[in-house]
Amino acid sequence: MIIKTVEFVKSAVKPSQYPEYDFPEFAFAGRSNVGKSSLINTLILRKDLVKTSSKPGCTQLINFFLVNETISFVDLPGYGYAKVSKKIRSQWQPMVNLYLENRKRLLGLVLLIDIRRDPEKEEFELMNWLETHGIPYLLVLTKSDKLSKTKQQKRLLSICSQVNREKNHVILFSTKTKTGRDTILGEIENLMGGDNE
Ligand code: GTP
Ligand code: MG
Repeated sequence: MIIKTVEFVKSAVKPSQYPEYDFPEFAFAGRSNVGKSSLINTLILRKDLVKTSSKPGCTQLINFFLVNETISFVDLPGYGYAKVSKKIRSQWQPMVNLYLENRKRLLGLVLLIDIRRDPEKEEFELMNWLETHGIPYLLVLTKSDKLSKTKQQKRLLSICSQVNREKNHVILFSTKTKTGRDTILGEIENLMGGDNE
């Protein structure tokens, strides 16, 4: 997929605030600080269209972006970060759940896991939910540049066995080296059924 244009559409908390357009949509989900906003910036080749931070809890709203005037990308707030206030934390889960339950044109989700961490309860719950609802998802291991090539392969195999997936169904990614960018864009294109040109 060639990225031609990208625009920030809006931020939302609840369904009545979501954009009303009917474009095929892809959402990016994962633990806080895993690199969701950075991954979107890498996909769209912008350094900072999507705000990122070394401090977890940066993205607190659901942010909609329109790519090539035809595809919607959604940056979701991260889960699992204990240091934000209880109030904010208790709002996140319903915010993301409502989003997942209400978006009819959600064609797929990209689930990010830090390559150095094992998938936990939240990831397994999300994968179960997606499988139950028949929503395809890509598993992406982020920050692969933090490990040597040998360690990357070890972690890849370990995570694959934990989530019960073949090695070629989990994508290694890094914003630093851009590893995985083309694969993710290719998978998104596949999920669109190639009808985007
Ligand atoms: P929340 O919005 O808090 O949920 O976080 P997020 O998942 O959007 O993470 P974000 O993209 O803001 O990145 C968090 C931190 O990780 C930032 O300091 C990024 O620069 C860093 N980071 C993200 N991806 C990579 C990567 O592939 N490699 C390295 N080395 N650092 C990364
Ligand atoms: Mg973010």
